Amino acid sequence: MNLVHERSSLTTQRLNSLLTTSLLGRTSYVYHQLSSTNSHARKLVEQGVPHGSLVIADSQMCGRGRLNRTWHSPEGVNLYCSLILTHALSPALLPWVPLATGLGVAEGVESCTSLALCLKWPNDILIGKKKLGGILCESIRQGTQGPVVIVGIGININAQQSDFPAELQGTATSLLMEQNEEVDRLILLATLLSKLEESYQLLHMNTIPTLRRLYQSRCSTLGCQIHVQLAGGTPLNGWAYDIGLDGALHLIQDASEPPPAGKNVPTIGIRSGDVIHLR
Ligand code: BTN
Repeated sequence: MNLVHERSSLTTQRLNSLLTTSLLGRTSYVYHQLSSTNSHARKLVEQGVPHGSLVIADSQMCGRGRLNRTWHSPEGVNLYCSLILTHALSPALLPWVPLATGLGVAEGVESCTSLALCLKWPNDILIGKKKLGGILCESIRQGTQGPVVIVGIGININAQQSDFPAELQGTATSLLMEQNEEVDRLILLATLLSKLEESYQLLHMNTIPTLRRLYQSRCSTLGCQIHVQLAGGTPLNGWAYDIGLDGALHLIQDASEPPPAGKNVPTIGIRSGDVIHLR
């Protein structure tokens, strides 16, 4: 195992030397420790920062996950960052931001490693059944313009099994654990930002059918029997059937078998919730 510690190299200067993007990450704020990069990004939005500004921290004291969960953020090993997207998007495109982010992250990680990644709807980043990373998108309304979107990305990179709390050890993974080799966090970040820029361009060009096709082919939720906890608390069971043009997950409720291919069946569209893959 090649254990080269590269934590000292998390600097704006080094990131700038690696970037190939036009806008994403061109303004960056790098910290040793923050409460949460998303919370700090929110403060920067109030001050007014350019589209694509990036906040990175070497550790987070109160990293936040979806559905009010915490995001375990030990120092010096993983990637914790938030992008600030100020270019206006129509309300119909907003649900696609987390999905387009998941795609960009998966493509970026794959192009830096020999690993295959998939996405659990809406935007858990998985290797096999284990969670490699997550995305937390938060919108801030500003006057009459479209909202500013903060895209928080957490990826387990050089964490070892013992870096995770006991309750995550069976379900979380890192790039180091998967390939027995450390990854340079800033090289990975620069690659992710370039893939994210491509993914967001599809969004701004309104090419949702293309994004949808790419997402469908990476989404390991499709075809699974799932349990969904809706935001209001209602549980649903069924088969994950498709992703709609609105980014919703379409579920065939309570069916004991998946439908035969090509059959038109009634589905329920789920816009947000916690999905568990049963089989
Ligand atoms: C999830 O899967 O629940 C989403 C996790 C998102 C974690 C990232 S780490 C960087 C950014 N700052 C935060 O506080 N959360 C996100």
